[in-house]
Amino acid sequence: MNTENRIYLDNAATSWPKPEAVYLAADHYQRFIGAPNGRSGYREARESNRIVEEARRGVAELIGAVESNQVVFGANGTDVLNLAIRGIVRPGDHVVTTVCDHNSVLRPLRALRETAGVQVTYVPCDAHGLVSPDDVRNALRPQTRLVAVIHASNVTGVLQPVYEIGQIVRERGAAYFLVDAAQSLGHVPLDVAAMQVDLLAAPGHKGLLGPLGTGILYLRPGLERELSPLRYGGTGTQSEEDRQPDSLPDKYEPGNHNLVGLAGLAAATRFLAEETVEAICAYQDALTVQLVEGLLDIEGVTVHGPPSASSRTSVVSITVEGYEPQELAAILESSHGIQARAGLHCAPRMHEALGTTAGGGTLRFSPGYTTTPEEIRQTVEAIQQVAAASLC
Ligand SMILES: Cc1ncc(COP(=O)(O)O)c(C=O)c1O
Repeated sequence: MNTENRIYLDNAATSWPKPEAVYLAADHYQRFIGAPNGRSGYREARESNRIVEEARRGVAELIGAVESNQVVFGANGTDVLNLAIRGIVRPGDHVVTTVCDHNSVLRPLRALRETAGVQVTYVPCDAHGLVSPDDVRNALRPQTRLVAVIHASNVTGVLQPVYEIGQIVRERGAAYFLVDAAQSLGHVPLDVAAMQVDLLAAPGHKGLLGPLGTGILYLRPGLERELSPLRYGGTGTQSEEDRQPDSLPDKYEPGNHNLVGLAGLAAATRFLAEETVEAICAYQDALTVQLVEGLLDIEGVTVHGPPSASSRTSVVSITVEGYEPQELAAILESSHGIQARAGLHCAPRMHEALGTTAGGGTLRFSPGYTTTPEEIRQTVEAIQQVAAASLC
């Protein structure tokens, strides 16, 4: 397939292209290793063990986790968020989340409201999609078990004050703090100790640059005593017992691993360690400034979320007068080869807060580490042309 004329601006859904080393590692695993990990003792099986542990260590180092076993793997961001939420919340508990959060948080909570009498407070945001730490503080109750907050919005890119919120939750003592880092891990430097998180969840296939089918959950040391597993089964360890092991990471990783994905993820973490998240962040910030400033200059275009490049990631949402977002996305692809995502982006309450639900949501651009300034220039020019056509 020809990818030459493809301007891919949907990295918030999944990053593409991946670093070359990710493709090579996944291919190498399939062709030359092909063995399970944690079960057998022959050479290739030992290599599979090494790959899984390298991926685990690579992620742990990126987020500042002291022990690599504090990182457990799942199938995607949704999978590990379900483990974090449904594993920690008990019937009758109270949970605080925000209107900016994704359906991967909102839907498990909705299910707990309906099936387990769980009460949920949705903290509001301002016109730019920013949540106030004071509102989180005011939402806490004696029976609050969990505070779940998205780090970077997948609609507007706004970065929430998770470090301040972490401090507030820690002062309260009783509640656990979960951060959904789906749109921040690999995009901005982050540190689990400074954030004071108990749980941090993210896909391996977005900013971490690994393959689809990978997700990671960080657990604060000792939290495995509180977090129930959602899946039970064989781990290749303590096989004399039909009880799920209590030890990390086996407690949460029954069944065979996605070795193809984890081989790619191990290579991706090596790539990120070499390139550094700081450098990727600075590069993407420059693209975001170029994109936001270009779009703000166009008549008929509204940029939703933070007006500047500060306190945000490279996710930018717009609406254009006279167009439905879906129509706009179709024109951009057919006439300009630009691929962006239109709609509500699995964040219904965020669009309600921004006032964009009735219009069908927004058109979202999410450049990545391989996007070029020339591609951003072409995108701004394309929107200029489309917006001008509707004004004539
Ligand atoms: C903020 C946020 N949380 C969670 C998810 C879910 O991740 P995944 O698609 O890997 O299940 C996404 C993906 O779009 C997201 O943007």
